[in-house]
Amino acid sequence: MMLEKRLYNPLFLLLALILCVTIIFYVFRKKPERILAYKLHSSNSSYTYPIHNLPKDDYNRLIDLNFTFKIINYPCNDSNPPLLLVLVHTSPDNHVKRSTIRDTWGKNDNEVKVLFVIGDTNNTSTQNQVLEENLQYGDLIQGDYMDAYRNMTYKHVMILKYAIYHCPLAKYILKTDDDVFVHIRGMKHFLSNNLSLLGASNVLFCTTREHTIALRSYRSKWRVTFKEFPDKYYPTYCPGWNLLYSPDVIFNLYEEAQQADYFWIDDVHITGILAKKLNIVHTNIQPLVVSSQNLYYIEKSYNITQPFLYGPYNLNENTIRTLWKYANTHPTPNYTGWEDFN
Ligand SMILES: *[C@@H]1O[C@H](CO)[C@@H](O)[C@H](O)[C@H]1NC(C)=O
Ligand SMILES: *[C@@H]1O[C@H](CO)[C@@H](O)[C@H](O)[C@H]1NC(C)=O
Ligand SMILES: *[C@@H]1O[C@H](CO)[C@@H](O)[C@H](O)[C@H]1NC(C)=O
Ligand SMILES: *[C@@H]1O[C@H](CO)[C@@H](O)[C@H](O)[C@H]1NC(C)=O
Ligand SMILES: *[C@@H]1O[C@H](CO)[C@@H](O)[C@H](O)[C@H]1NC(C)=O
Ligand SMILES: *[C@@H]1O[C@H](CO)[C@@H](O)[C@H](O)[C@H]1NC(C)=O
Ligand SMILES: *[C@@H]1O[C@H](CO)[C@@H](O)[C@H](O)[C@H]1NC(C)=O
Ligand SMILES: *[C@@H]1O[C@H](CO)[C@@H](O)[C@H](O)[C@H]1NC(C)=O
Ligand SMILES: *[C@@H]1O[C@H](CO)[C@@H](O)[C@H](O)[C@H]1NC(C)=O
Repeated sequence: MMLEKRLYNPLFLLLALILCVTIIFYVFRKKPERILAYKLHSSNSSYTYPIHNLPKDDYNRLIDLNFTFKIINYPCNDSNPPLLLVLVHTSPDNHVKRSTIRDTWGKNDNEVKVLFVIGDTNNTSTQNQVLEENLQYGDLIQGDYMDAYRNMTYKHVMILKYAIYHCPLAKYILKTDDDVFVHIRGMKHFLSNNLSLLGASNVLFCTTREHTIALRSYRSKWRVTFKEFPDKYYPTYCPGWNLLYSPDVIFNLYEEAQQADYFWIDDVHITGILAKKLNIVHTNIQPLVVSSQNLYYIEKSYNITQPFLYGPYNLNENTIRTLWKYANTHPTPNYTGWEDFN
């Protein structure tokens, strides 16, 4: 009795009607057109870094430090403009990791230039080894600030500086780490077919991280004080191991980073805090990272169908070699539909 009465209540009928309309609207709504953050260049007028906008002493300044390169190489001087400049964040001691990358995916050719980026060390035996390594391979860049955990942001900004001053014609710039696998042949295919040989703008491609809580525990390696970062969550940012940039993004972030207060978590600072300030939008390429399930299949010598640009992060030498072998013995994937995830 009570229920029946309620069913005829006009308010109830109105609510039911609103609910129905909402459901119908939701089900049959037109999907919004996908808005892509990046823009492909359609003509050959390449981007030129507006270096004249920077202060006169900019080259010898790194945020709040006086700066020079202790070791530098210029692979971009002597060839056609490269499609891709790869800058690998590594530390002076990591000779073995660098040699694994040189043996596998990190080879220089006309289209791709790979360089390893380190800071300074006060261990003379390490430094001698670094100098010897550079004599042999000519692919190191060393800044004169101390290579230290809390100095990572100096390294990241030095990478941006190098791209701007010493490889200004590279169409794309990849910042990665020394424990990463990059499917270079796939990357060339992706950049030239799915992006553009003519370059692009607004490219900040990575495996985006959203709603990451700033850690406050004293036990955490990533602990930050409220003075360093006052908010609860970091803005959306890119973890530093698979950062694909276009030159315009490099320049805008660099210009901002040179003036901003120092914050030591480089990827949060540059691709999160500063990118947000400049309204630079991230494009998530998580679907192009080998899933852990597929990594397992590859290690078991099965074939996978997932097209990929990167292995998972934090790889050991053997896994990098396994992925390299796999990439070399399988056709270049077509990166169809990767944008649909955004
Ligand atoms: C664009 O310019 C480069 C030289 O800067 C040239 O090698 C390339 O062929 C040009 N591409 C097109 C499509 O015109
Ligand atoms: C940088 O060098 C200038 C002189 O070249 C000096 O006056 C200044 O104190 C130095 N700054 C730092 C942070 O070392
Ligand atoms: C390098 O020098 C700093 C002081 O300048 C010192 O604290 C640190 O222990 C030294 N590191 C090594 C590896 O000697
Ligand atoms: C310097 O580095 C070497 C390894 O490259 C290490 O064996 C040695 O203990 C280090 N020396 C100091 C003083 O830290
Ligand atoms: C970072 O580098 C600067 C410049 O070389 C140095 O003074 C400072 O001690 C380094 N920071 C750490 C944590 O080692
Ligand atoms: C390469 O170009 C830079 C300017 O970016 C210049 O300072 C350097 O001397 C050149 N090096 C070589 C080997 O040509
Ligand atoms: C895996 O792929 C390779 C290279 O395309 C091919 O030669 C091989 O037959 C494939 N194996 C299986 C089990 O499909
Ligand atoms: C990729 O696409 C090209 C045509 O665009 C096709 O010829 C090729 O077979 C495709 N490769 C794979 C692995 O699907
Ligand atoms: C990527 O390029 C290949 C051709 O190389 C094409 O088959 C595929 O549809 C492209 N994917 C996207 C999302 O543009």
